Amino acid sequence: MNPVQLRQIEAFVYQKFCKEGTGHDFSHMKRVASMACQLADRENADKRVSEAAGWLHDITDDKLVDDPAASKLELIQFLKKIGIREEERIAIDEAIADVSYRNGHKQPKTLEGQIVQDADRLDAIGAVGIARAFAFGGAHGRLIHEEGNDQTTIQHFYEKLLLLKDLMNTDSAAMIAKERHEFMKDFLRQFHLEWERKGESRA
Ligand code: ADP
Ligand code: NI
Repeated sequence: MNPVQLRQIEAFVYQKFCKEGTGHDFSHMKRVASMACQLADRENADKRVSEAAGWLHDITDDKLVDDPAASKLELIQFLKKIGIREEERIAIDEAIADVSYRNGHKQPKTLEGQIVQDADRLDAIGAVGIARAFAFGGAHGRLIHEEGNDQTTIQHFYEKLLLLKDLMNTDSAAMIAKERHEFMKDFLRQFHLEWERKGESRA
């Protein structure tokens, strides 16, 4: 895989996700690709496979496309068309197979897959993660917060986002996750203070 092919993959992903507005937009793919490349460098993994898989990790996701099997076929044809060798296509496919958190927290088999999963999870926490959670919540008609309601976006922090820092596959990602986790905890602390108006003048 060469840099030109990576730019072709980027353009393919742009065309698929530029109109997405639920937190899985093109900029998410760009951050995951870039973080995967950085983690691969630190973990001595294949940087180009990690970057390509970062770009493509959501392309066949059943929550984003109507027909995942058709998307997968289209992806294979596209990768063939731009001249990606078969062993690289297999490496990319393996790296994106088990990334999603919803599929029972599977750990991807290859190091590149573990890296892409870490990069995807890192994008769900910290300041960007907070923004994405509320974008997702709003797009799905969820309330921000409500006492006793377990379907709110704030609830999602306790059910998933605060657990992610302990689920990182690589040490490099765990280090980044720690800082982002602390930022989310600070955010939640301030959120609850403002929501309950404790320690604030009511004048
Ligand atoms: P995946 O694990 O496949 O990346 P998710 O849909 O679980 O997919 O997560 C993608 C993004 O959507 C994350 O930023 C996550 O926080 C957000 N998200 C998922 N479910 C919810 C929810 N119920 N409320 C708010 N945000 C959510
Ligand atoms: Ni993703």
